Order: sequence, then structure tokens, then C-alpha cells
Amino acid sequence: TTAHAAQDSRFAFQQLAPQTDGTVHVPEGYSWKTLVRWGDPLFSDAPEFDRTTGHPAQGSDRVFGENTDGMELFNRRGVELLVVNSEYPNPKVNLTESVAALEERNRVIMEQYNERRTAAEAAGTELPPEPELEDQIVSSADDVLLLQQIQGVSVMEVVEGEEGWSVIVDSPYNRRIHHNTPMVLDGPAAGHDLLKTAANATGTRSLGTFNNCGSGRTPWGTYLTCEENFNGYFGTSSEVATDDTVMAGYQRYGISTDIEPGRYNYHGYDARFDISRNPNEPHRAGYIIEIDPWEPESTPVKHTALGRFKHENAAYALTPAGRVVVYMGDDERGEFMYKWVSRDVYVPGGDTSTLLSEGQLHVARFDDDMTGEWVALTPEATGMDAARIAIFTRMAGSAVGATTMDRPEWIAVNPTAVEGYCCLTNNSRRGTLAEDGSVRTNAGGDPMVVNAVNPRETNRYGQIVRWRPHDDDHGATTFDWDLYVMAGNPTVHQNGLYAGTANINAGNMFNSPDGMQIDTTGLIWIQTDGDDDNEGEFAGMGNNQMLAGDPVTGEIRRFLTGPKGSEVTGLTWSADRRTMFVGIQHPGAPFPDGEGALPRSAVITVKRNDGGLVG
Ligand code: FEO
Ligand code: CA
Ligand code: CA
Ligand code: CA
Repeated sequence: TTAHAAQDSRFAFQQLAPQTDGTVHVPEGYSWKTLVRWGDPLFSDAPEFDRTTGHPAQGSDRVFGENTDGMELFNRRGVELLVVNSEYPNPKVNLTESVAALEERNRVIMEQYNERRTAAEAAGTELPPEPELEDQIVSSADDVLLLQQIQGVSVMEVVEGEEGWSVIVDSPYNRRIHHNTPMVLDGPAAGHDLLKTAANATGTRSLGTFNNCGSGRTPWGTYLTCEENFNGYFGTSSEVATDDTVMAGYQRYGISTDIEPGRYNYHGYDARFDISRNPNEPHRAGYIIEIDPWEPESTPVKHTALGRFKHENAAYALTPAGRVVVYMGDDERGEFMYKWVSRDVYVPGGDTSTLLSEGQLHVARFDDDMTGEWVALTPEATGMDAARIAIFTRMAGSAVGATTMDRPEWIAVNPTAVEGYCCLTNNSRRGTLAEDGSVRTNAGGDPMVVNAVNPRETNRYGQIVRWRPHDDDHGATTFDWDLYVMAGNPTVHQNGLYAGTANINAGNMFNSPDGMQIDTTGLIWIQTDGDDDNEGEFAGMGNNQMLAGDPVTGEIRRFLTGPKGSEVTGLTWSADRRTMFVGIQHPGAPFPDGEGALPRSAVITVKRNDGGLVG
């Protein structure tokens, strides 16, 4: 950058160079420290963590969960609670013995196959068929229990002392919510036949929250956790015979009807996850769940009114009248963006019980003239009743002609301007012609044509779309939009769409924007979950990272890099804004414990050495 640009820049840090090693880097004048890792105790009766084998199944609900993702910090009268999602497991790390045994079985299978093939080649006889390798990573009910308990949500009290931040073990607020925690269902789908199961004849209660990806918060101080790839936990032990609507739902949402153990094989140990025996169980996952972190005994609420899809996060805004708006993305190739608007207004200290259950869900249409519309998902518009709109929301979006997007990940609302941003992370199938010459589609058959908001065929870099609601009202049904940035690689592609927009240069390249938060001063913090091999199309980008963007000038500057193999996801701040909490998910290096130890996902704190505001 030129001296002039540096002078004009809003950033109080020098750009960090791309990194390729196994640890975290922050700019000069900043420091980072590990706050909590997978397996760290939230309670003093938690099992001890072994740096090479992890911890046992018993007590796995007493430790900080695995694969940290969305998080929010809550402050009340000086008490600070950090609430953090644990999205999915890393079986090779979490189930070291079972996965080692699986790898050994597969090694023997391959060895025997190679011997037969060599013999056949020598004899000139027909070659043996390639063997099928096993992929089931669990080998016992204990394995399943451990996986179920290290995912979900961790609530913990944190405090800053002389040595930095730490978790208060045994705080009365500490809590683990996982795949077996009792939940309440509310909204239009609650009590519907499609939500009833053998264990819950009323269709109003369920167990567990699944694949907790991004987060959100409400103005009244509760936490929102978002169920993303919930489909992967269900399977079947026998032929699935159910009605066409349900089968179409399995197909649209990616729930397998193949008779096989699958990766997690929950259904081999717990009939709840077996769709041949409990066909409605998957209808009870894929929602936004509200958790009151201040009431450790409270029952989390699954809000069906906000729709069922692969929820990334939930970003709220208030309309001028005080209605609650929640923006949400459905992270799958060619799926949609959504907006909830409450019927009632939010009154601080007033009744909030209807705000996420009574209102209107909308889906986004982005037009090529750079305007767009939030189309209301009503029974009239979709031909579906309210309960089915809530359960089969993707089909409702298709019915009204929503725009297929390049995988909507996090949405962030700018607190300093009436605008929202969504990371469209990438889409390897955008526009790609199938063999018969037609355009590729999402799972519902909606075409993924190249259009103004998703302008690149085979989009490997991703973009961030910004919209400005008309009348400065997040409740408005129309908006103007533009692309805040198209990521790209100007050193590989000198011109054209794959070089990225003008705010991308050789110094700040990245791919696959995913996590995003906008701080109270309006800086956009962008986290990446992309290709980190640093070669070819991705040369010069280094490891996954976090960058800061200026919404006004468009300037983007790299602030933090994660360890090799990791994704940087999840971001929140202390009440005084002098500490940033950042999540490091699935590190590929033995982070943060060092050589010989298991890699552990972790939440780190980042501070300015002079104690100033971060950024
Ligand atoms: Fe869990 Fe779409 O990221
Ligand atoms: Ca994500
Ligand atoms: Ca991602
Ligand atoms: Ca991830």
C-alpha cells in the first residue's frame, strides 16, 4: 500500500503476511493466548485429558466440546459467560483407538488385495475386483456416546486476571448441551404429525441439537445455536418405506436411505437415528435453537418458525418499529438466504415469548438489476401449509423462485449502517454443464445458472454480498445489493472475474469467506474456511485466516492466520472490546500443545499489547 493509503486506513495494525506453519499469528503489537481447548474441564469431576489419546466416553459431557464454531459472549453485572458451539467430531483425534483399528483393518484388506493382484498379474489371469474399504469410525456404544457428548454447545463463565482470561471450572453457569439434551419444539411445526415419534407422541419435545455451526444472539440476551449438517447423523438398518413427501424431504435434505453403517453409525446403536424405525426424527433437526445462558436448568427451545434447513448462523436487526429481524443462510450449493420478521415488537424488559415464533419467514430473490426482494413464504405463495413451510422450508423457497446462491455462510448486520452482508463461500458446481448439456441444479432441481450475484462458473474463491434494505428498514421486502468483495487470485489470473474485485491484491488474498462479524465500530471481520495448500489457484493465500474490511472504502487487511489445516471460525468480544475471542477449528497440526500431542480445536484470546481496542 502507498503511504497515502496507509494514512487513510482505518486499521490500527500492519497487514500480516500469509503463513503456512502450524500455529497462530497476529500482527505486531498484538498477542494471542489459548483460552480453552477440546477436552479441557468445565467441571472438576471431568476425566483427565491424555495428550495422545484424549479422554474416555464417561464424563465426556463435563469437558469443553470439540471443533469450536460460532460463539457469543454475554455480560451481566460483571459476570461474563462465553457460549460456544461444537460443530462436529474429528474421529481420528477423538476416537484414536477405534480409528487406528479401522485403519489397520483397511490396511490388511489392501495388503491382501495387492497380493492377489500381483499373483494374478504374474499368472496372467483376471485381476481381482478392487476391495471396498470400511469407513465406519465407531466400534462401540461408548464411541457413539463420546461423539454425541463432545458436540453441541458449551456454556462457561470466563474471567480476566493477571495472567489473562480463564474458564471458571465449576461455575454454576457452566453447562454442556449435546446430542441427548432435552429440548422443546415451538412454532408452526410443533405438534404436527410430521414431528411425532414413538418416544414423543405429542411432537413437542425432542432430544439434542446437532451440528451446531454458527451462532447468534437476541436483543434480550439469549444465545442462538444453528443446526447445519444434521442429515449426517441419520441412517437406516432396513428398506425405508414411507410417504412421498417424507421421501422427497430426505432427498432434498441429504438424508441417506442406503442400508449401511455410514460414518457415525448412530442408528446401529440407537433406534432414534434409524429412519426405517423413526422416519420423523430427522424432521426434528435443522432448526435455530434458543438457549438462556443465565438459567442453567432452562430447556432449550427449537424455533420451527425460523425454518428447517442447513442453518449457518442467525444475525439479528431491529426494524424502526422495533420488530425483530433474523437473517439466515442455508449452506449448501444452490440453496437460499432467509429473513424472519417478528409479528410483535421488542420491548426491553417486556414479553419476548412470541418474537421467534409469531411472524413471517421470507426467502431472498436477487435480481440482475442489483435490486432484490424478500419473498414471504406464505401458504398462498407456496401452496404449503404453515407447518410444512417450517419443516420443508427449502421446498417453499423453490416454490416462490428464490435465487440459488453460492453456499450462504455467515450473515452479519452492520450496527453503524442499515445494511447486511453474507459470505457466499464458493460453489464448485455453479453454472457447470452436466453431461446432457443442461445447467447443474441444487437438490431440488433449481438451476444454478451464472447470474449477477453469483457471477462465476465453478466459483472456487467466493464472494460477499451486501444489501441495503429500502427505506432504511430491515423489515422492508425490497433492497439494493452489491458485491462487497469477490475473492480471487490476481497473481494467477491477471484479469477477469477470477482475479477478484479491486479490493483484492497480492498482499491480502484469501478464499472461501465463511465466518463474519461486524464490530461496534463497523469493521467487518472475515474468517476463511478454504483451500490452504498455498499452491496453484490458491498460491500466496497461505493458511486460513481472519481479515478486517472497511465497509466504506472496501479496504481489506489480513489480521490473523490459523494453524495449517485449520479453519478460523467463531468470533466475539469482551464487554470492554479489548479482547477478541477467536475459534480455531480442526487444526491439522498438533496445535496448541506441540509435537507429539493430539491437535485440539481451541478458543484463543487476542489482545493489543497496549490494552487498546482490537482492530
Ligand atoms: Fe458449518 Fe457452513 O459452516
Ligand atoms: Ca461455517
Ligand atoms: Ca465453510
Ligand atoms: Ca467447519
